Amino acid sequence: MSRLDGKKSDAIHGDIQLSLDPSCYWDKSFFETEIRSIFRQSWISVGRFDRVPNRGDYLALEVGGIPLIITRDDAGNLNALANSCRHRGTQLLDPGRGHCQRIICPFHGWSYALDGSLLSAPKMSGVADFDLATYPLQRIPVEVRAGFIFVDPLGQAGDIDDWLGDFEALHMPWDISRLLTGYDTSLEVGCNWKAFLEVFNEYYHLPKVHPKSFSLYYATPDPGDQVRGNFATQFGRHQGTRSVAKVSDGSKPLPIFPGLKGRNRNGTRYTWLFPGLSFAVSSDALWSFIVEPLSPERTRVTLGVCFAPEVMQEDDFAERLAPYRQRMQEGLQEDLEVLKRQQHGLTSPLAHPGPYAPVLEDSVQQFHGWLRHRLPTIT
Ligand code: FES
Ligand SMILES: [Fe+2]
Repeated sequence: MSRLDGKKSDAIHGDIQLSLDPSCYWDKSFFETEIRSIFRQSWISVGRFDRVPNRGDYLALEVGGIPLIITRDDAGNLNALANSCRHRGTQLLDPGRGHCQRIICPFHGWSYALDGSLLSAPKMSGVADFDLATYPLQRIPVEVRAGFIFVDPLGQAGDIDDWLGDFEALHMPWDISRLLTGYDTSLEVGCNWKAFLEVFNEYYHLPKVHPKSFSLYYATPDPGDQVRGNFATQFGRHQGTRSVAKVSDGSKPLPIFPGLKGRNRNGTRYTWLFPGLSFAVSSDALWSFIVEPLSPERTRVTLGVCFAPEVMQEDDFAERLAPYRQRMQEGLQEDLEVLKRQQHGLTSPLAHPGPYAPVLEDSVQQFHGWLRHRLPTIT
């Protein structure tokens, strides 16, 4: 039985704030609550806008366990549609990216346009009063902000700009909305979704987990920003290198984003847009992670690196991308090792919440505060 069902650990020990109860990272009923009350009731990012760049492109995926299709329709508009046929509910498209003119149900052949309208339904003309217009695919709210596509799976998350608060204004110096994806990939990891994003958003682990890379590249960060909106963000200055994709062969990193000024030219801003999107934006690249919780202890992660469009047009871009990919993969492998150990340790009945390191774990602490606010049943 989860400790969440019975005696709960205290969130505050004396004057010290403590991390989440360990069972939040493995308990099945808590996981189901998160899916129902967090992932289905928030604005959730499904990736960069250039995942569906052209008319006819689609992306089929699940958000909070709900099968969805994101399409770019014939008019160039973005749509978020239920991936469930209006006849008898069949899933229309397999997960993944693709291109099509029409969405045709593999069961009885109902055919939909990319904006979700029903175009044809074989042999239904004999049904009295049957009208194609009555059976479009269910639409859900979809928006693009800062170049990320967001959906609101049940239409209950409210206005996206209220949800984001200061998010767009705070990232204006990097002009994130124009950045294009240079590289992306997906993988499944054997840990809770929160643990995966937590390690990306804290500086405390750098000396032990990344002794030869990130721990050398970062000075002590600024304290986490106090912001309005459903996110945490923290800026850290670099030391000894301008780019965290430090190029070991001595070649130069990619140019600084045009217009980037002052401290932003020599540091990285780490942002966690609750619940499932996190990114680090530096002077030359944006590194992002999107999580899809599969079970309490399994998570699908989509990672990507984005760059300025003019840089991607250069002939030698593929070559210059290599160290950025390499840095991301190496850092990820080091994190995955420690995440495996953390996940195992958290499942022990003898595991307990612990205190946060000042400044270095500010974003983790802010996220836990947000989760406690959204799910008042946890301590
Ligand atoms: S379930 Fe799709 S056409 Fe019948
Ligand atoms: Fe790390």
